[in-house]
Amino acid sequence: VDTRELADQLTDAPPLWVQTEEDANTTLQALGPAVTGTVLCVASGGDTPLALLGAGAREVIAVDINPAQVAVAELKARSVELLDLPSLEILWLGNDPAARLAIYKSLEERLSPASHQVLGRWLNQADARPLIEQGGMQGVGTELREREPVLAALLPDWFQTEDLAAQREYHDRHLQPLAGIIAALRQARAERWFGAGGNESDASVAREMQDRFKRRFRHLVEHIPVAENPYAAHLLLGAYLPDARPGYLTAAGHARLMQAAGKISFVVGDLIEVAASLPLKSLDAADLSNVADLLPEDEMARLFSALASVLRPGGRVVHRNLVWEEPYAVAAGFARDMETSRVLAFSDRSFVYSAVTVDVFRGGY
Ligand SMILES: C[S@@+](CC[C@H](N)C(=O)[O-])C[C@H]1O[C@@H](n2cnc3c(N)ncnc32)[C@H](O)[C@@H]1O
Repeated sequence: VDTRELADQLTDAPPLWVQTEEDANTTLQALGPAVTGTVLCVASGGDTPLALLGAGAREVIAVDINPAQVAVAELKARSVELLDLPSLEILWLGNDPAARLAIYKSLEERLSPASHQVLGRWLNQADARPLIEQGGMQGVGTELREREPVLAALLPDWFQTEDLAAQREYHDRHLQPLAGIIAALRQARAERWFGAGGNESDASVAREMQDRFKRRFRHLVEHIPVAENPYAAHLLLGAYLPDARPGYLTAAGHARLMQAAGKISFVVGDLIEVAASLPLKSLDAADLSNVADLLPEDEMARLFSALASVLRPGGRVVHRNLVWEEPYAVAAGFARDMETSRVLAFSDRSFVYSAVTVDVFRGGY
């Protein structure tokens, strides 16, 4: 399937990511002090806009081509602003659909009519799994528990291992088949939403994606502690652990965000068009998620040329790659921060990305 077609398919998809699979620490380190200004980001499951606000952004513009993602992100922001932590937990982590729906009803009036419409339908169809597992591209942890109960039962102890040596040893002794199983489950999810293709070249891309996931998983095993890692917990367990939660679900993060969550504006639209529509030199930073994976090179050039008009000199842009191994070539007017990109690709707790890349606008373009 052509990459542009993939993006177009998203315009009428249900929510695919309810919990963003992108490490907030990576984003914040990539953007540095620019994060306290006006930041453009992809809305996805709403976690990135909230993390940016939590780090002191003056204003966040959260864009998504899929109205259902904007709806989820808006619900996340409104729920953080208006609910106490126990109610937030029932809404996002609970497994009681009636209790979840009652909480949603209490917020409904505070959502835009478009989001309200998408979410009412979606929540009425949702099952007992926690909402964070009900993104169409997610739910792999729950599935693993159902299909591989013996392996899944060994996982909580892995999240308790004390250091990287113990983590590697436990994995190699008990969890060897895990990466292959998760890679296949993720591939099946992607094919369900984006199609499997049918020819040998599609099959070889599918194999390569799974092999790449296995390589990145080995990187996790050897270099990134799973203890206190909310991204690994969400992916593998389908749940968070007490010490491994995203910021908005912690007491301190929630308290900080309650005051600030009103500072996000949500926009349904194509990132390129929205970037091009912003006032000149009005932006300090941008987080492009991994939309580059879905855009052909000429459209990426258009996106960076729009960013060059709206960023202030020194403005920083972070982007990730899941599908392509190599990041987009450096655009005119930008310089790549190679060292930060390398360090972040290594340390990123969400670990699945083959590249995390930071480009800095030099100005005067
Ligand atoms: C690229 S996807 C991948 C998921 C992402 N890595 C995460 O963890 O949330 C992220 C989001 O980008 C949105 N998206 C994809 N192409 C877009 C585009 N051209 N403009 C705006 N949003 C886009 C998708 O709808 C989705 O919500």
